[in-house]
Amino acid sequence: MNNFWLELHKPFTVLAPMDDVTDNVFRQVVLEAGRPDVFFTEFVSSDGLVFNSHGIPLRKLTFTSDQHPIVAQIWGTVPRNMKKAAKIVADLGFDGVDINMGCPVREVMKRGAGAGLIGNYDLSGEIIKSVKKGAGALPVSVKTRLGKNENIARDWCTFLLKQDLAALTIHARTAKQMSAFPADWEEIGEIVKIKDKIAPNTIIIGNGDVKSYIEVVKKAQKYGVDGVMIGRGIFVNPWVFSKDSGEHTKAEYIKLLLRHMELFEKTWGGTKNFAIIKKFFKMYINNFKGASILRQKLMEAKSFEEIKSFL
Ligand SMILES: Cc1cc2nc3c(=O)[nH]c(=O)nc-3n(C[C@H](O)[C@H](O)[C@H](O)COP(=O)(O)O)c2cc1C
Repeated sequence: MNNFWLELHKPFTVLAPMDDVTDNVFRQVVLEAGRPDVFFTEFVSSDGLVFNSHGIPLRKLTFTSDQHPIVAQIWGTVPRNMKKAAKIVADLGFDGVDINMGCPVREVMKRGAGAGLIGNYDLSGEIIKSVKKGAGALPVSVKTRLGKNENIARDWCTFLLKQDLAALTIHARTAKQMSAFPADWEEIGEIVKIKDKIAPNTIIIGNGDVKSYIEVVKKAQKYGVDGVMIGRGIFVNPWVFSKDSGEHTKAEYIKLLLRHMELFEKTWGGTKNFAIIKKFFKMYINNFKGASILRQKLMEAKSFEEIKSFL
């Protein structure tokens, strides 16, 4: 197996998969600001990939060569389709396949997928086996939460760790807690202890509420995780992976937004609506005098050209 997880310098950093956010373009922006050690794609439906509805799932699986190592995250409940999706991922040149067992979105859970798989031991075991078959030489990992409604992490992760996974990411909240409650890192520490006993070769990645590189190092020291995944922290500080905790100026934020737009146009051409960029304004145009007025103006823009001229 080509297990890149074992070659990473610890503690390593990972950009969290975030649907409709961490696409190919956003990852290029993060790469230029300061790269994490590992990238993940947004989650992609295995059923969608197999039937390739309108080409959208495959578009989610594009990446540039400098984004390696990059892991594709897939979701679903049909082992046959999960296997086929893993094979597609392997053929596209990814470095790993991750199975989403943590998404709390209602439409996903309703189908028994994402966090809906938590506690469904038989089906989850079958899915992991199928994905491994489809993935061939690629390492297979799982990203999960502490439970659906209740914290069952110790039982659940014991089960997952017995499946001989290359890596396990634990987002330290239950699905019910969404992102509203503080992440329970003590629980991650307990799972690391279980891992040391039953699956010492599995890599553990902790996730939840980390906002700086200093915190990455502290969490790894305190809880024994091999790596730390950062999601929303990137919105507060796009330079979070550069290990640079320094302040960044308004001009630097605006320059990065302009670069984001440039990469968007270059990567997607006319295939994605330019207005998607608007949801990123809050990330770049924030925390300075006049930011909210500028954001309001930008929200009214009808084209990239208009946004650029405002800026
Ligand atoms: C907008 C958004 C989209 C997300 N999409 C995914 C996803 O596709 N797959 C996944 O495993 N987690 C997804 N998550 C969860 C994040 O990967 C991460 O686990 C969560 O945000 C907690 O980390 P943080 O506190 O560092 O943000 C998403 C989170 C957000 C905010």
